[in-house]
Amino acid sequence: MERLSKVIANSGFASRRKVDELISKGEVLVNGDVAVLGQKVNSNDVITINGEVIKNNNGNYVYYLLNKPRGIITSNHDEKGRKTVIDLIDTDERIYPVGRLDYDTTGALLLTNDGELTNRLLHPRNNIEKIYLAKIQGIITGTDINKIKNGVVIDDFKTSPARVKLKSYNRSSNTSLVLITIHEGHNHQVKKMFEAVGYQVDKLTRLSFAGLDVKKLKSGEYRMLSLKEVQRLYSMVK
Ligand code: URA
Repeated sequence: MERLSKVIANSGFASRRKVDELISKGEVLVNGDVAVLGQKVNSNDVITINGEVIKNNNGNYVYYLLNKPRGIITSNHDEKGRKTVIDLIDTDERIYPVGRLDYDTTGALLLTNDGELTNRLLHPRNNIEKIYLAKIQGIITGTDINKIKNGVVIDDFKTSPARVKLKSYNRSSNTSLVLITIHEGHNHQVKKMFEAVGYQVDKLTRLSFAGLDVKKLKSGEYRMLSLKEVQRLYSMVK
């Protein structure tokens, strides 16, 4: 027997806290009966939330690292029927992406059916490192690099200190390549950080996520994580 909230969170439906809320509101059914907080279930119990059946995967987890190409949506399904990152992975498991990359952003993206690890990797308290390479319009100045390093205001919050390094610049195309390491994951965060100091991002690629890089993967290629890598991810989170 396992705790109902854990089984649902592990399925990736929602975080443990959100799941407890749903149970409290009476939105979770077990074999057709309204569930209660703290309830335990076994693998034969049928769990539904608003009519959706939650799969108890009994800890049968899969983990993929994808080098996401441009022009693909990071989502489980697209209303307009466009291709999503899930379509690129050949698996029968119900996997989903760990966080998001924009439609036009490329690079390291983790996908899994392990909801617990997903929630932990995405939780701000764990400060998971993401390294990006941005090609921006203009030759960035040292002053502006320092501004981004120290934190800029985007939307209504100030970004945490970041590592920022000018990799190269090209006077004839008037562009710069900048390495930026952040530990947050707000929507369009990197693009907005550059915009905040007056530069437009032309191309963005995530070189690594939580120390997993995609150097050996071509665009659109993916691989499964090794047990060691999964253990390392768990050791990084609380
Ligand atoms: N920051 C962005 O602006 N876009 C991404 O896809 C990821 C980080």
